[in-house]
Formats: sequence, C-alpha cells, structure tokens
Amino acid sequence: MLSKCYVKDLLVKHTKIPVSSKLLILSNILSLPKEKILVYEKELSHRHIQLFESKCQDLLSGVPIEYLTSHSSFYFLDLYINEDVLIPRPETENLVDIILKSKIKPVNIMEIGTGSGSISIALSKNLPKEITSKFLSIDISPKLLKLQNKMLS
Ligand SMILES: C[S@@+](CC[C@H](N)C(=O)[O-])C[C@H]1O[C@@H](n2cnc3c(N)ncnc32)[C@H](O)[C@@H]1O
Repeated sequence: MLSKCYVKDLLVKHTKIPVSSKLLILSNILSLPKEKILVYEKELSHRHIQLFESKCQDLLSGVPIEYLTSHSSFYFLDLYINEDVLIPRPETENLVDIILKSKIKPVNIMEIGTGSGSISIALSKNLPKEITSKFLSIDISPKLLKLQNKMLS
C-alpha cells in the first residue's frame, strides 16, 4: 500500500529547487493561491504527486518556471502565458516605468510585436484614469490571438 503524501512531504523533496518554486508549482497544480499551499493539509492524489514530479524534472532540466505554471509576473501583474510566447523580461518593466513617469502622457498607443501583451496591459492598468489611451497591440503570430483572448477574459 502506498503511504500518504502531503504538501509538506513534497516541499522537502528536490533540494536543488528553491522552496518558492516548489510552492509555485503546487499552487498551479492545486489551483490555489501560494499562501494557501503552506496550510493545505489534505492528502495529495497520485495524479497531483505525478504532476509535481514531472514539473520538478522539467524545471531541473531547464524549463522556465513560467512555462511550467503558465504564469509570469510583470509590473505587479500576474499574466497568463504559454510556450507560444516569450516570457516578458524584467528589463522591459523599465520601459513601462519610463513611459509612466514621462511628462508626455500617451493618448494613442500602438505596440507592434506585442507577444504576451505585457507592455500594453501594464500601461493600460497604470496610466492615469483621466487619460483615455487607445491601444492597438498587434503580433504576427496567430497563436497569440488565442492566448491574448484568454488573458483579457
Ligand atoms: C521578443 S518578442 C517581444 C514581445 C513583447 N513586446 C515583450 O516585450 O515581451 C517579439 C514579438 O514580435 C512578434 N513579431 C515579429 N515580427 C513581427 C512583425 N513583422 N509584425 C508583428 N509582430 C512581429 C513576434 O511574434 C514576437 O511575439
């Protein structure tokens, strides 16, 4: 008979992986916010354990955590992503910052090669409310249309 397995048992496995990453993986597998994982006391199913093991192996072989959890943090936002799109880079947050801090407030914004849409989404969420910014965000990749519809829903 297989012994019972709980979150605390998985968090001590794979010592090469930071606990913060294991929490993100479990949060994704259990569809719960990260804060709830540490207090999750139910027994884990065989499927959950298998998924955890497979994602840990992928992480150890170099797959970015963002692709394993389908989430990426960008400018205080939690964006849905998948492997059809490049992971938004931290340096790009500086670009958003420069635009937001500029004295010239953009009214119409066109973003060509929008990828995950991270720049347009961050600007639309953070530009002052009194400015009506119109966005046209385009990308050559048809796969991104599906992804962006999911993000905007
Ligand atoms: C490096 S990614 C940048 C994504 C995003 N702007 C960001 O900073 O995270 C470049 C994007 O440009 C798109 N792209 C490349 N050539 C293009 C073109 N001719 N017209 C529109 N989009 C294009 C690609 O599909 C890709 O999603």
